[in-house]
Amino acid sequence: MSKFEVRPRQSVPKIRARKGGEPLVCLTAYTAPMAKLIDEVADLILIGDSVANVIHGHETTLPVTLEVMILHAQAVMRAQPKALVGVDMPFASYEASPEQAYLSAARVLKETGADAVKLEGGARMAPTIGFLTERAIPVIGHIGLLPQSVRALGGPKIAGRDRSEWPRLMADAKAVEAAGAFAIVLEGVVEEIAAEITREIKVPTIGIGASPACDGQILVTDDLLGMFETAPKFVRPYARLRTVISEALAAFASDVRARRFPSAAETYGER
Ligand code: KIV
Repeated sequence: MSKFEVRPRQSVPKIRARKGGEPLVCLTAYTAPMAKLIDEVADLILIGDSVANVIHGHETTLPVTLEVMILHAQAVMRAQPKALVGVDMPFASYEASPEQAYLSAARVLKETGADAVKLEGGARMAPTIGFLTERAIPVIGHIGLLPQSVRALGGPKIAGRDRSEWPRLMADAKAVEAAGAFAIVLEGVVEEIAAEITREIKVPTIGIGASPACDGQILVTDDLLGMFETAPKFVRPYARLRTVISEALAAFASDVRARRFPSAAETYGER
């Protein structure tokens, strides 16, 4: 699509209607300049709690707070995206009760202008998802590998490697759908059960490490840009920005040390 074409804003009904159609393009963003670039190609922008790892240098997503999520969501919204914008509910901002979830999610939508929230958990979170959606808060579900549960699980674990897990995964997807989620992220889920869930439920599945069978795909943008030394198996590095940045920084340092920077053209004179 040309940059100059007027592109209508995405909405929850439009995203839901993409079930089984053209795959949904979804990416994470945490800042306004990246959101502007991502908005040229994406249907959905997620302010993921992966901001904890990617921007703030934490090992897990657990330390990120509601205030930090709101700050990054406000930055993204200043890019005035046409894509639908979802915001992750951070660990400990929604699990205690549906009421806690409502107050946190309402803050996110009121203070940022984003469209929806995403929260982790299957059947156990269905009453909370129902509480939010009945009160006009659009929710994206998230099942499979749950980064906010890494402490309890002893580390990240691909879901569905053992067939005995499949009925629980399917029940999770159905419970989240029945509670009113308009899309469901499947993270780290083996292809067979990801495909079966995608066939069985009526809202789009958005995969991350969950095979091409899903209705859409999401990646952490910094992963696909090659910003880190390592990335999970499911990431395709579309660029090697880490190398580009290192080389640019080394060239600057070398020019400063050799007094090649700044040049006359980069220096102010009297007039
Ligand atoms: O936090 C995040 O970035 C996410 C996506 C990877 C799905 O939850």
